[in-house]
Amino acid sequence: MVAQVQSKDSVEKLNVDKKVYIETFGCQMNKADSENMLGLLHEIGYEQTDKLKEAQLMILNTCAIREGAEDKVFSYLGHWNKIKQEMPSAMIAVGGCVAQDAGQALLKRAPYVDVVFGTHNLQRLPELVLQAQKTKQPAVEIWQELPPELPELPVIRNNDISAWVSIIYGCDYNCTYCIVPYVRGREKSRTPQTIVREIEELGQAGYKEVTLLGQNVTAYGHDLDPAIHLGDLIRMVDKVKEIKRIRFLTGHPRDLRVEIIDAVAEVESACEYFHVPIQAGDDRTLRRMARGYNVDFYRKLVDKIRTRIPESAITSDLIVGFPGETEQEFMRTVSLVEEIGFDACNTAAYSPRPHTPSASWEGQVSENEKYERLRFLNSVITEVAHKCNKQYLGKIVEVLVEGKSQRNDARLSGRTRTNKIVNFAGTESLTGQLVNVLVESVNPWAMRGVLNDPRYVTNS
Ligand code: SAH
Ligand code: SF4
Ligand code: F3S
Repeated sequence: MVAQVQSKDSVEKLNVDKKVYIETFGCQMNKADSENMLGLLHEIGYEQTDKLKEAQLMILNTCAIREGAEDKVFSYLGHWNKIKQEMPSAMIAVGGCVAQDAGQALLKRAPYVDVVFGTHNLQRLPELVLQAQKTKQPAVEIWQELPPELPELPVIRNNDISAWVSIIYGCDYNCTYCIVPYVRGREKSRTPQTIVREIEELGQAGYKEVTLLGQNVTAYGHDLDPAIHLGDLIRMVDKVKEIKRIRFLTGHPRDLRVEIIDAVAEVESACEYFHVPIQAGDDRTLRRMARGYNVDFYRKLVDKIRTRIPESAITSDLIVGFPGETEQEFMRTVSLVEEIGFDACNTAAYSPRPHTPSASWEGQVSENEKYERLRFLNSVITEVAHKCNKQYLGKIVEVLVEGKSQRNDARLSGRTRTNKIVNFAGTESLTGQLVNVLVESVNPWAMRGVLNDPRYVTNS
């Protein structure tokens, strides 16, 4: 029998030193949720470990966006179960979008899981863990929507320079391929007061950059009373002087109104970087995806951004092999990538998802064909991205230093305001600083340069 947890009693604080290991799949919102989970569990005596085998609690924060992501969940769980057999007191919890969708059914495939919780009730995680511990029965609790009053959750972040800040949850669109509205519910914005308060604290704690997050971040604030828009919020966040860079992710082209572009243009800390997912470069496909715009609308939007902020980087998401997509339609997506000249794109082969209309449509494209289209599109994107990056050669860019480069210990790595990775030689003490770097070479994914900053370079 499965224990139904109903009690809303406040979580009992345990004064023990336990370790939690967390694995996060999916988008930045999921990463931000994981940081909240760590904050919540800290309150009952857990601290994070990066060693699976020393954890008393293993959490899988799952993603359901594509079939492959979901398969990965069960392969991880199988592996974790083996560890659990050697350490029977260890517990396994599954949260995120797969858990939200599967709920109780997850136990059929993975009966050894101790806690299943969804995307709407993170705050219940500590109590569910304690419940499962006490009853030795799985604790499963999924809420169908977020509570009317959004709780302010504790957070432990993994990065101390740049912070994710969720500002709106859910999505009110119904793109015919996408499971997100089903697993994340309707749009619900946090109030600007709570967001600004959190960002002020981040500023005081030494953070330099915030990324405002939402499944549809550009819709921020329409559900508040009084309604505001993302541009208003950017202007409010800009008042937090310690925060030097504001980014936002990920939006829908239809909601990227001119007021938001104006705010980015006028607010110094707002970065000249727009991630604007188009999904396909063909009108019939866009219509069947129910995206609510056509290619010409998108072209005009890009024109607006580039006219107002010429140095902007523009990136996108693209899906290939949507059901019924012809070769000719696919080639229109390829041409659009060349025409727009995207700085980078996330690409994916269409994956049929439960609860989405297009999963049962005729004309599903074969796996082989999807793979071929993906390969070709990626090669074009790489070329286009390389061309974009070449424009930086010989220029001085402002870089927020994130730390040592993962590829080469002797170098530092950071990002430009336009979100380009820059590697250069320098001492680790520059981590967290904004420095000027002269770009000397580029590839499609990153740049290399030399420190060119009178504050840190002395010319002898
Ligand atoms: N709200 C954003 C996207 C969020 S989902 C937007 O409207 O564009 C992140 C990305 O996952 C999408 O941009 C899309 O490219 C991809 N995606 C979503 N569902 C998918 C599916 N069924 N198959 C393949 N890729 C998918
Ligand atoms: Fe999914 Fe984005 Fe469409 Fe919402 S707007 S349904 S998140 S693709
Ligand atoms: Fe995946 Fe859920 Fe994000 S499905 S992409 S983790 S909203």
